Amino acid sequence: MARKKIALIGGGQIGGTLAHLAGLKELGDVVIFDIADGIPQGKGLDIAESSPVDGFDAAYSGTTKYKDIKGADVVIVTAGVPRKPGMSRDDLLEINLKVMQQVGEGIAAHAPNAFVICITNPLDAMVWALRQFSGLPHHKVVGMAGVLDSARFQYFLAQEFNVSVKDVSAFVLGGHGDTMVPLTRYSTVAGIPLPDLVKMGWTTKERLDEIVQRTRDGGAEIVGLLKTGSAFYAPAASAIAMAESYLKDQKRVLPCAAYLDGQYGVKDMYVGVPTVIGDKGVERIVEINLNASEKKNFDKSVGSVKGLVDACKKINPAVA
Ligand code: APR
Repeated sequence: MARKKIALIGGGQIGGTLAHLAGLKELGDVVIFDIADGIPQGKGLDIAESSPVDGFDAAYSGTTKYKDIKGADVVIVTAGVPRKPGMSRDDLLEINLKVMQQVGEGIAAHAPNAFVICITNPLDAMVWALRQFSGLPHHKVVGMAGVLDSARFQYFLAQEFNVSVKDVSAFVLGGHGDTMVPLTRYSTVAGIPLPDLVKMGWTTKERLDEIVQRTRDGGAEIVGLLKTGSAFYAPAASAIAMAESYLKDQKRVLPCAAYLDGQYGVKDMYVGVPTVIGDKGVERIVEINLNASEKKNFDKSVGSVKGLVDACKKINPAVA
């Protein structure tokens, strides 16, 4: 059986880490596409030269031509520019919207059967635009946000309780950003919900609120430390978990920015919800009952995603 093919659109910080992880996990052969000639070729060769040391078999190539992603099984998109000082949110939106148009058309022409994972920010709007430009089925295009947000939540909880990250499970809903909705009553340590752990005296409601806020600000915390870029190790690991679930038909329950067509009362938008990812793409959207305050926070989050999508439609009416 031929190896699977993984195309990475964008060979920057996240793209390079994705390429390395895909090799270490032997998910398939990797093609890195970038507009900066030399970078994808250089990173591809560098990682390939590590393969004898780590003992993995995978072919690597770098390219500036979309035709080289032909037949990819998975496409992971990190192409775009980050927000720079003096740039408004709309400036960023305008630039990355243009990038999504190029990428969407490239995927439609050369890899229309791929499972596509978008990472470019602002995530929930960019994955929506990428789907529109590519014309791929909605269940084959998803955004990576929830796995990362819940991983951060899990990590902070494991630290708080001094337990293994393996025994912490966390649940995060909504858009990627300040309005994300970490759900404490569905987050557990060895199956024990967080509110019960408060009752057991393991932590306090105030500490949990602080951890929830730190989770919401998780991206900004890394930017504040790095100063010249944003997080890349954890975002790459998160997207690889999604790609692996698709490629191996693991049917993992993973929170993703998925297309909603009425679920959670939302239509024609991408928002972070729990999904089942298998070899058909997004095979199921898990619709849980929200209590009044969770619903209020979720609706606020949806409202902010809608604002971004509306801004995209205004910038480029062709995307609507
Ligand atoms: N087509 C292909 N690649 C592009 C394009 C384009 N039109 N425009 C820019 N790129 C490439 C850049 O050359 C760069 O190599 O995208 C890459 C982006 O890499 P980084 O700037 O290192 O960004 P990274 O940290 O990888 O984050 C990528 O993910 O989390 C989000 O906010 C983050 O939107 C950003 C994206």
